[in-house]
Amino acid sequence: MKKYSLFLIATGLIFGGCLKGQNDPVFPSPELTIPVDESITLQNALPFKFGAAVNNNILRTRAAYRDVVIKEFNSLTSENAMKFAQLHPGENTYTWSEADYLVDFAQTHGKRVHGHTLIWHKNPPAWVQNFQGDAAAWDNLMKTHIQTVMSRYKGKVASWDVVNEAIANEGGGYRTESIWYQKLGPEFIEKAFIYAHQADPDALLFYNDYGHEYGPTKRTAILNLVSNLRAKGVPIHGIGMQFHTRYTQSNTNLAAAINTAAATGLQVHIAELDIALNPDGIQDLTYSSGLAEQHKAKYEFIVRTYNAIPKNQQFGITTWNVGDSDSWIPSEYKRPDWPLPFDNNYQRKAAYQGILDGVK
Ligand code: G3I
Repeated sequence: MKKYSLFLIATGLIFGGCLKGQNDPVFPSPELTIPVDESITLQNALPFKFGAAVNNNILRTRAAYRDVVIKEFNSLTSENAMKFAQLHPGENTYTWSEADYLVDFAQTHGKRVHGHTLIWHKNPPAWVQNFQGDAAAWDNLMKTHIQTVMSRYKGKVASWDVVNEAIANEGGGYRTESIWYQKLGPEFIEKAFIYAHQADPDALLFYNDYGHEYGPTKRTAILNLVSNLRAKGVPIHGIGMQFHTRYTQSNTNLAAAINTAAATGLQVHIAELDIALNPDGIQDLTYSSGLAEQHKAKYEFIVRTYNAIPKNQQFGITTWNVGDSDSWIPSEYKRPDWPLPFDNNYQRKAAYQGILDGVK
């Protein structure tokens, strides 16, 4: 017996040591997933739309991903395929195939499509970065992009993140490194909404940003921006709150973000939800039952708070991709993490139960 125990300990140390040294993702053990009740899905259980950002490459190549997208979600956002550089890589070149694929997939399976994103400071294509022209030429460039893209998907894409992340992280001012801000001034924002509305008067138009839950400075700046747009009569219908958040974020801050957005009376979209479990970047952290429970509690709190805002403002909640191995977080921050409600094999995690519990 003693010999057998020593063997088990030695084996555990060898395997544990090997795993620790690897860069492979850590797979949650079966007890960290929840039993599957096939009669329940997120899209059926929740009283508002529940969506996911999807990656076309995974959608094409992993059947389990495709299955879970079809089964669980009723709203889809393209994680990357509708961004400026992907759709419009040359001044006179548009590449539609990836965005078309996603829109066709969504139509085939009866899912709403939320368009992400028309105007963003990040990753403008080289031709935009090198573009020479006066303010009128830049205005025309932005208008042409917005209207060409929206016209193609008119009637198929219900809503758009027209402008993404225009407010700086600190200080409450505009994000001045944005090429759009530099070339057109802060008016680029209202112009983008006006051009979008001209292209598709039926589309719901969102201002999307992150950090509403960080504290009052950025949140207030975003809300002031939105109120000023409305005071000027600019067509804006919703606030997208990304909510790339973490399990240590206080419920007070999360609730303040949701409730102040709802107080505007606009549509509220929790647009890119993920809840990081390893915000401090601990390289040998593993997904434990303790973390799973805290994850579940944070998902539940967010869903419960969202479910309490007026029904007619609940545009929905969208998670930023589906399973942990699809998340942008581990590669961006070079750390293990488990931010989503599905594990690497698309098994439901405790967080999934938290989402369901949030509407009980
Ligand atoms: O597809 C290419 C691949 O061919 C190439 O080999 C590889 C080398 O770097 O890059 C691949 O493209 C990457 C793409 O993701 C697809 O994986 C880009 O480099 C990378 O920059 C891109 O990152 C995306 C990022 O936005 C920037 O556009 C993330 O997937 C996406 O999750 C992230 O999403 C953003 C939202 O749009 C806005 N809010 C924040 C959120 C997270 O950063």
